[in-house]
Amino acid sequence: MEVRVNNLTKRFGKTTAVDQINITFQDGKLTGLLGPSGCGKSTTLYMIAGLESATEGQIIFGDQDVTTWMPEKRNIGLVFQNYALYPHMTLRENIAFPLSNMKDPETGKKYTRQKRNEMVEEIAKLVQIENMLDRKPGQLSGGQQQRVAIARALVKKPDVLLLDEPLSNLDARLRMEMRTEIRRIQQESKVTTIFVTHDQEEAMSITDEIVLMKHGVVQQIADPHEMYLNPSNDFVASFMGNPPISYVDVQVKDGFAVLDNGMKLPYHTDYCGAAKMGIRPEAWAVGGDIGVKLTDVEMRGQDQVVSFALGKNRIRAILNAEEYVRSGQEIGLRLLEKRCYLFHPETGVRL
Ligand SMILES: Nc1ncnc2c1ncn2[C@@H]1O[C@H](COP(=O)(O)OP(=O)(O)OP(=O)(O)O)[C@@H](O)[C@H]1O
Ligand SMILES: [Mg+2]
Repeated sequence: MEVRVNNLTKRFGKTTAVDQINITFQDGKLTGLLGPSGCGKSTTLYMIAGLESATEGQIIFGDQDVTTWMPEKRNIGLVFQNYALYPHMTLRENIAFPLSNMKDPETGKKYTRQKRNEMVEEIAKLVQIENMLDRKPGQLSGGQQQRVAIARALVKKPDVLLLDEPLSNLDARLRMEMRTEIRRIQQESKVTTIFVTHDQEEAMSITDEIVLMKHGVVQQIADPHEMYLNPSNDFVASFMGNPPISYVDVQVKDGFAVLDNGMKLPYHTDYCGAAKMGIRPEAWAVGGDIGVKLTDVEMRGQDQVVSFALGKNRIRAILNAEEYVRSGQEIGLRLLEKRCYLFHPETGVRL
C-alpha cells in the first residue's frame, strides 16, 4: 500500500520535531528514513503508526486519510530497537499474540487455533526460525530475537511495516547479516516498508529509496545511487559516504577552482565565482601534478585512506591499495572532476 504524508508537522511545545514534510512511500518498496540523532525520524514513524498525533498535515494510506485513526485500525506492523518480546511465552505464542484479538476476514470470527498455527508457521519459515518455535526468547541470540520481532509484526499481514532502528542492538557483523535478511524478507513479503536508521551505509545498502532529514526537514528524496552521486546540498553530500566528502573554499573560473593559496585544481563548469567545493575521497588517483604531502595513511586491505592538506583544508582520499605510500611522503595526484561538486558558500545549496 502506498503511504503519503502531506505537510506533516509535529511540535512538542516550542520544539518543531517534524516540519512540513511531504513524502510518498511507494507501494511494495523499502524506504529508508535517514538522518542524524534528533532529526525527527522516530517522530515521523510514530505519526504514521498513530502512536503520536500529527500537529498539522495528513497521513494517507492508499486513498484513505488515516490521520486521526487509532493505531489498531491502521493495519501496521511495528518493530523497535528493543525487541519487546514476552519472555515467559514461547516464540510460537509471541508471534501468534497479535492474532488473538483479530477476526479472521474469511469467517468474521476469531482465528481458530489451527489457523493461527498455520499463520505462525508460514511466517516463521519466511524469517527462518521455524525450527525453534517452542523455545523462549531468552534462549535466542539477538539476531534470532529480532527475527521473532519481525515475524510478530508480519503475522497479521500488515499493509505497512515500520522499523525503528531495528538493528542497533546487534554487533557489527550480525547487523550486516540481518540487514540483508530484512531486505530478503521485505522482497519476499512485498510489504511496503519504512526503515528508520541513522546509518547511511545501512540505508544505502538495502533500500529502494532514501529520505534524508535534518532538523525535522526533508533534505532530499532519492534512490541510493542518486543520493550519493547527485546530492542536492552540502549536508546530503557530507552525510552520505565514508570516509566523508572533503571541502575546499575556491574561486571558480576559466576551467579551474582556485584555492586561497593560489593552488589551481582543474574544474570545468559554466559557473563562475566563489564556491565551496566538495571532493569525494575516490576523486583522487596517484600520478598527476597536484603535489601533496601525506600526513596519514590508513591501510584498509582493499584500499587505503590517506590524508593531506590542501591550503588550510584537510582532505581525505581513497587510493588503490597497491600504491605503496607512507605518512610523510610527497606524491603527485590527479583529480577526477566528476567526483567533485560545487555548493553555494553560504547556503550550501548545490550550484
Ligand atoms: N515526547 C517528546 N516530547 C518533547 N520532545 C520530543 C519528544 N519526542 C521527541 N522529541 C524531540 O523531537 C526531536 C526529534 O526526535 P526524534 O525522536 O524523532 O528523533 P530521531 O531522529 O528519531 O533521533 P534518534 O536517531 O536519536 O532516535 C528531538 O529534538 C527530540 O528531543
Ligand atoms: Mg529515533
